[in-house]
Amino acid sequence: MPSAFSFPTTTLFAVGARHELRGWLAKLGSQRPLVVTDASLTKTNAFSLLSDCLEGMGAAVFSNVRPNPEEADVEGAWHAYRENDCDAVIAFGGGSALDVGKAVRVRIRRPDQTLAQFEFATDWSGLAPLIAIPTTAGTGSEVGRSAVIIMEHRKRVIFHPELLASLVILDPEFTRELPPKLTAATGADALTHCIESFTSPVFHPLCDGIALEGIHLIAGALPRAVRDGGDLDARGLMQVAAAMGGIAFQKDLGATHSLAHPLSALCGLPHGLANALCLPFVMDFNAARKPGVYRRIGIALGLNDPTDPAAIANVRTLFAEIGLTPGLRAHGVDESKLDALADQAFADSCHATNPVPVTREDLRGLYQRAL
Ligand SMILES: [Fe+2]
Repeated sequence: MPSAFSFPTTTLFAVGARHELRGWLAKLGSQRPLVVTDASLTKTNAFSLLSDCLEGMGAAVFSNVRPNPEEADVEGAWHAYRENDCDAVIAFGGGSALDVGKAVRVRIRRPDQTLAQFEFATDWSGLAPLIAIPTTAGTGSEVGRSAVIIMEHRKRVIFHPELLASLVILDPEFTRELPPKLTAATGADALTHCIESFTSPVFHPLCDGIALEGIHLIAGALPRAVRDGGDLDARGLMQVAAAMGGIAFQKDLGATHSLAHPLSALCGLPHGLANALCLPFVMDFNAARKPGVYRRIGIALGLNDPTDPAAIANVRTLFAEIGLTPGLRAHGVDESKLDALADQAFADSCHATNPVPVTREDLRGLYQRAL
């Protein structure tokens, strides 16, 4: 099978890039867009800035997206779209709002099918236009081709190239209010995307280059963005780096994400924090079995002597500097949960592209070390 390389999403980046929104809606043929977001965001200054851009358009708003979106959220957005006779979707928020914004277009395109009946093989051309506007810098969902939606009590991934946004707007003003803790956790997610995608064995040298530059940007900008949320230069670099992480993980991820997913599902840890608590231990594990695996990551981090231990120590120091306290116990995870966590982590597909193979016992051991 030939490798396929594709970077198709048009992305506008600048402080004030939001002012291009109106012109782009016209270009996409939209007069009445539906804004998909969550309730907490509607009270923020970021939402007011967005509303100002849409003034006089009669845009509709669906603001009931849950932190872990469910099929009912997509249904709700679909009803709002139909009732208000909308013609485009603006997904505004973190990964959850972006995922619902992507998925609702599937429902709009084929109203006779439920989301649970989604099949990749169906013709998904002609989806409603989507403008993705992230208000966090971490998931990279704005440049992705998938949406994670809970259906029948299970997380399901809807994946199709047609789900890509028509346009991404990265305006650092939209992330200005993100509190330091969330800035740190979402930034750690972006760093983990870059590190795990770079070390994934999938052949994609274009993404490798993007991942390394993403690491370089995050190492410089993340501590600044956590220290001073109003530092729009650092905020902007984090937005771009998060999108780069999202692009790079077309190569898939690694064992850290397999460990992190059950920590969210079973123990309620935020995804970025779960990654930060596990990543250095996975790096120790991988470096012991594949020496040199983090040498180029060390260079991207700015180290003069880019050995594996130096790169791993640098990541630990970065996480400590941004206030992500290590230790699963400090976040309510105890030994009694490790077997259930290890079972789910082993069932998770991300570790298939870890730089070295892992067993269920390896994953349990990693949780133990991260306790
Ligand atoms: Fe992630």
